[in-house]
Amino acid sequence: MKLGADDAARLADAIAALRRGEVIGLPTETVYGLAADARNAEAVANIFQLKGRPADHPLIVHIADAGQLPQWASEVPEMARKLAAAFWPGPLTLILKKRADVPEIVTGGQDTVGLRCPAHPLALTLLRQFGGGLAAPSANRFGRISPTSAQHVRDEFGDKVPIVLDGGDCEVGIESTIVDLSGHIPRILRPGRIGKPELEAVIGPVAEGAQAQSPRVSGSLQSHYAPHTRTELLPRARLIERAQACLQNGENVLVLSIAHPVGTIPGLVLADSPESYGHDLYAALRELDARRADRLLVESPPLRTDWVAVLDRLSRAAADTPEEDP
Ligand code: TXA
Ligand code: MG
Repeated sequence: MKLGADDAARLADAIAALRRGEVIGLPTETVYGLAADARNAEAVANIFQLKGRPADHPLIVHIADAGQLPQWASEVPEMARKLAAAFWPGPLTLILKKRADVPEIVTGGQDTVGLRCPAHPLALTLLRQFGGGLAAPSANRFGRISPTSAQHVRDEFGDKVPIVLDGGDCEVGIESTIVDLSGHIPRILRPGRIGKPELEAVIGPVAEGAQAQSPRVSGSLQSHYAPHTRTELLPRARLIERAQACLQNGENVLVLSIAHPVGTIPGLVLADSPESYGHDLYAALRELDARRADRLLVESPPLRTDWVAVLDRLSRAAADTPEEDP
């Protein structure tokens, strides 16, 4: 994406709004964010209010480059430098010990801060011109499906977020990989496009999955990224059976399948590659959800490491007991 004269004017408006303490819609390569000046506690409070997000769930601070890490982290371990050099700008968030002057509201009262440099030309230009960090969670209401287009953000927040920078459809489509570097060993708290093998090639062994003492990751609640429609995740062999049983019950059923439709049952088909599937997943879930069916049956992806991030999001979309959905 090349930036033109219109973009320059829109960026100037966005920066003026951020300086006034307002919240804007921000494109990134993963999903759209709701961004505010990370040093302005009142502005950040507006994000929590808009999202309906509990105050103890920390936000990621987006920065223009790894050179800004010391403005937020009290120490920048060697592993952080290596990962930033290998993957930034890109879909990787690093959890580091925070500096004392990072506003409490950004970090949800924890002693760590999440940092990421996004690989999107509009976001990067904005960050460079703005100069400071932007606190930005995904631009969806808490627990709901993340937005991968500017229209998704407008659908979700309307007039409440008047400035949404339109950076087109998000290239990755699912949220960044989160790696906690604040403990003894590096640990993946949220899987994403950058997988364990890629991380290990740069810093050696990496553990997986949050522990009791791990920093809180709201995307790690059992139910998250969830459609309104009751959603089930099933292997293809059981999908047809299940769909037929639902249909016999008089239910209106939709199917999200991989590579091929499931008989004549209506729904959507996504490609048989984790990158392409991840790119289209949230838009597909939104579209299917809008059809207000009684039930959505999702074909489970292959149990392979390259599908881990997609499987993680699908499992949360299908978990029907929201733990903390307001
Ligand atoms: O790709 C992404 O990461 C997108 C784009 C907008 O950058 N952002 C995103 O933000 O997904 P959000 O707030 O929806 O999810 C960020 C996750 C949350 O689960 C939060 O709990 C976790 O990062 N997080 C942020 N700071 C943290 C910290 N200090 N310790 C542990 N987890 C943290
Ligand atoms: Mg989110």
